[in-house]
Amino acid sequence: MNQPRRPRRLRADGIRSLVSETTLQASDLVAPIFVDATATERQPISSMPGHERVPVNDAVARVEEIVEKGVEAVLVFGIPTEKDNQGTRAWVDDGVVQQAVRAIRAETDAYVITDVCLCEYTDHGHCGLLSDGEHDAENTEHPASPQLTIDNDKTLELLKRISVSHAEAGAHMVAPSGMVDGMVGAIRDALDTNGFENVPIMSYAAKYESDFYGPFRDAADGAPSFGDRRHYQMDPANAREARYEVSLDVEQGADILMVKPALPYLDIIAAIDAEFDHPVAAYNVSGEYAMLHAAAEKGWLDLDATAYESLLSIKRAGADLIISYFAEDIAHELSGD
Ligand code: PBG
Repeated sequence: MNQPRRPRRLRADGIRSLVSETTLQASDLVAPIFVDATATERQPISSMPGHERVPVNDAVARVEEIVEKGVEAVLVFGIPTEKDNQGTRAWVDDGVVQQAVRAIRAETDAYVITDVCLCEYTDHGHCGLLSDGEHDAENTEHPASPQLTIDNDKTLELLKRISVSHAEAGAHMVAPSGMVDGMVGAIRDALDTNGFENVPIMSYAAKYESDFYGPFRDAADGAPSFGDRRHYQMDPANAREARYEVSLDVEQGADILMVKPALPYLDIIAAIDAEFDHPVAAYNVSGEYAMLHAAAEKGWLDLDATAYESLLSIKRAGADLIISYFAEDIAHELSGD
């Protein structure tokens, strides 16, 4: 007799959790923070409810709040006092990230990851040095070409300096996010040469040129002043290219492979998880956070439930760790307090 198949048998209370394939834990999560060297008090980020830019002397308190909720790792972004065409404030010893990281390391037990990029530090807002003749974002008589791209190899030198300065300040791990070709290898060499062979690199390996970064660019003041990032970040149309990008970072010594954004790119997370043995990170970006908040504010979605479902789905797709603005809230919810 051909009995009907009844998967519903295992969906009853009592058995559901025994057959659950995926678990989301606070220890999977990384919370991004924004430290602002120009601020004297905390400033709410309007497009990211619940998040603030905090002054340098408040960075420790901010991290303590996160740790208290059960999240053990933070990703530090900085807004510098000044910007110039090379992003000098990104690697100086008294830079915003360097100061914040020193304090966080001295006073908390958080695992500290730093974002290594130039876009918050350059006056033109791009993730690297511009090619010759295209430095001057203010020059309206000769506006920079929309076809402009960054000078890839000169930018590598700056990324090395930034990474070493972050490691010197005490960063446990660095996370280069600029999609500069060769960045992982260059940074690995620089870290090793300076005695930081134990500092891992989490590469933003498959980072797409995404409109979901909009709220972040307000938060970190890192929007390009002209043009866009399509000449260095990936085309959302491409999946095969993501595997190629990731394979290059693996060859260069990346320790963790990140896919970004997360929800619109779950297929990429699954593909990278299937093909590579390294841990896979996913960045649940600012726009993914903002859209749930906006819908919840209108009463159209339940915020906690959709946030949890989002992160659970990102794990199910194959991510080992998730960077998310929901980290604190979800960790708190998971703890049942
Ligand atoms: C910097 C950087 C960006 C994000 C993380 N690092 C912005 C960008 O590439 O434009 C986006 C994070 C988010 O949207 O949450 N290169």
